[in-house]
Amino acid sequence: MPGRCYADGCGRPDLSQHYGTLQTYPTSPTTREKLAPNDRRVPPIHHPVTAKSPSASPIVDARALHKTYGSGKNRFQALRGVDLTVQRGEMVAVVGSSGCGKTTLLNVLSGLDEPDSGEVLVDGTPLHEMTDRRRTAYRAHRMGFIFQSYNLMPVLSALENVELPLLVAGVRGFEARRRARETLDSVGLARWARHRPNELSGGQQQRVAVARALVNRPGIIFADEPTGNLDSAAAEAIMDMLSALNQEHQQTFIIVTHSPAVSARARRIVTMHDGAIVSDE
Ligand SMILES: Nc1ncnc2c1ncn2[C@@H]1O[C@H](COP(=O)(O)OP(=O)(O)OP(=O)(O)O)[C@@H](O)[C@H]1O
Ligand SMILES: [Mg+2]
Repeated sequence: MPGRCYADGCGRPDLSQHYGTLQTYPTSPTTREKLAPNDRRVPPIHHPVTAKSPSASPIVDARALHKTYGSGKNRFQALRGVDLTVQRGEMVAVVGSSGCGKTTLLNVLSGLDEPDSGEVLVDGTPLHEMTDRRRTAYRAHRMGFIFQSYNLMPVLSALENVELPLLVAGVRGFEARRRARETLDSVGLARWARHRPNELSGGQQQRVAVARALVNRPGIIFADEPTGNLDSAAAEAIMDMLSALNQEHQQTFIIVTHSPAVSARARRIVTMHDGAIVSDE
């Protein structure tokens, strides 16, 4: 397994930052063989992933976020004091021109990246107060990610990529395989299950990434251009699916998009410009 995380702008040393570790759970033999284990253990969380917390706190509450990249002449302020509160069950579109900080914001909200200042509360708990293990476990059980550049594992088949978050979350091999097949089927890729990412088109890889984000039924899904490489019919089908999950299961979606067709599905549109939110309606 390549030694670094694939997430946009993440650069952390290994993928377990996003998907935990496989070593301590019963995994499918094929997937386990393909991924070198590491020895960090993710404590399991036993409550159902879509369970509502007893308090009425927002699912995400970000305050005064600042994030700077580089230093000296190359210093760039990607976030300049962002406040954003997202209630459970909302579907929020984040729009704005290229480079305005959308991916940076998603990474900070989901704890994949740290702000220079400000704080993010998830389910009422400040992310920075969670230990690394707790944060990793929280992500594995309660968050789904659709990355702008897919970040599929090249050595795994489509089916194994979708299965991965389940294995990390401790779902047993047979059940994980069944749910992964079902989810892959739901994005129209049943016959591509055994193919590796480099044998799939961009749009097919994107649908694998969507299936992988949804398979765990996470309470919150962070999606970065989830339909960016799909034709309009496929994009509409994916958005139908996300909207249905949002309405029927109150799953929360924060979706970065350039597509008016996608943002039209959201009940709330947050517009960014130069690292700040300039409208929220
Ligand atoms: N790891 C990084 N190192 C240095 N600069 C970065 C890094 N990640 C992002 N940036 C810079 O921060 C700014 C915001 O980037 P970001 O990826 O958040 O934009 P975006 O709104 O998602 O753009 P796009 O719509 O093109 O995906 C950009 O100017 C980018 O060059
Ligand atoms: Mg981006």
